[in-house]
Amino acid sequence: MTNILAIESSCDETSAAVISNGQIRSNIVATQVIHQKYGGVVPELASRAHQQHILPVVEKALEDAKISKKDLNAIAFTRGPGLLGALLVGASFAKALALGLDIPLIEVHHMQAHVLAHFIEEPRPSFPFLCLTVSGGHTQIVLIRSALDMEIIGETQDDAVGEAFDKTAKLLGLPYPGGPLVDKYAQLGDPLAFPFPMSEMPALNYSFSGIKTSILYFLQEKVKHNPDFVIENLNDICASVQYTLIKMLLQKLRKAAKQTGISEIAIAGGVSANSGLRKALHELGDKEGWKVYIPRFEYCTDNAAMIAMAAHFKYENEDFCEQTVSPLPRMDF
Ligand code: KG4
Ligand code: ZN
Repeated sequence: MTNILAIESSCDETSAAVISNGQIRSNIVATQVIHQKYGGVVPELASRAHQQHILPVVEKALEDAKISKKDLNAIAFTRGPGLLGALLVGASFAKALALGLDIPLIEVHHMQAHVLAHFIEEPRPSFPFLCLTVSGGHTQIVLIRSALDMEIIGETQDDAVGEAFDKTAKLLGLPYPGGPLVDKYAQLGDPLAFPFPMSEMPALNYSFSGIKTSILYFLQEKVKHNPDFVIENLNDICASVQYTLIKMLLQKLRKAAKQTGISEIAIAGGVSANSGLRKALHELGDKEGWKVYIPRFEYCTDNAAMIAMAAHFKYENEDFCEQTVSPLPRMDF
C-alpha cells in the first residue's frame, strides 16, 4: 500500500489529504474567513492563517484516513503558482516532514492538479481530453495527452474569469469571494436583461479586463439616474454578467474542440463550481456530441485531494524532488 500525504496552501485555503493507491482517504479544507472584511485575499494574513491551520489540518487528515505518520511513503505539496508567503508555509511543512520521516518529497503544479481532480472519482475522462481551467488566477484551455503531459492551448491575456466574477460582486457591494454570490443571484434573474459586450481575442485566447470596465461604467451611469438601481436589479445584473462570461468561455472551448477534434471535455478550478457554467456546458455538450466531465463541488475549489491525485501519478513515475526546491509564485507547465 502506498500512502501519500498532500498539502495545499497556494491561496486562502489550508488543506491536507491522504491518498492510498490512488484512492482518496481524507480531504480536510480550512477556509480563511479573515479576508472577507478586506474584500480580497491579503497575502500576509493568508500566510499567518496557513501557519495557524496547517498542523491541525494535517493531523485531522491523517486521523480521518486512519493512517499514522510512519505509514506514509511520500509527502506532496503545491509548489506553485500562488502567493509566495502562502506557498512557503506548505512547502516548508512538507519538506520538514519528509526529511524527518526520511521519505520522498513530491512537488505539484496547482493548475495541473485542478485538471487531475477528474481522476479522483468515476467517470474519469480518457486521453486525450480538453480541460477548461477556470479559477481566481487562471483561465486556460488545456490539452491533456496523459496525466503528466499537458499543454496550454489558449489562455487569458489579462484577468482571470474568477476575477471578473469577484470584481462584479465587489462593484455590486457583495462580500468576497463574490463568485458564488453572483451565481446565487443569477439563478433568480434574467440573463438577457442587460447586454454586455464580449471581448474578441485571437486564436483560443481570452480577455476579461474589458467586461469589468464596461460593468463599472454601466453601473455608474444607471446609479446616476436611480440610486437604488443595484438593489432593484441585483438578480438581473448578476444573471446578465454571468451569461456573458459563460458565453465567452464556451465560445473558445467549442473552437478548441473543433480545432483538435477532441470530444472529451472537462472543466476544473473554482469557477467550475458555477451552476450556470455547469448547466451551459452540459447543454453545449449534448448539442456538440461531447462527453462532458464536471467535478463534484468540493473538488472544484482549492483542495488537497487534487494535489494528492497529481502526487499519485508522480509517485508512480518516481518523479520526486530535492529538499532544496523552492516555491514558485509563477510556474510554467
Ligand atoms: O480554484 P480556486 O478555489 O482558487 C484559485 O486557485 O484561484 O478559485 C477561486 C475562484 C474565485 O474567483 C471565486 O469567486 C470563484 O473561484 N468561484 C466561483 C464560484 N465558486 C467559486 N465563481 C463563480 N461561481 C461560483 N459558484
Ligand atoms: Zn485553484
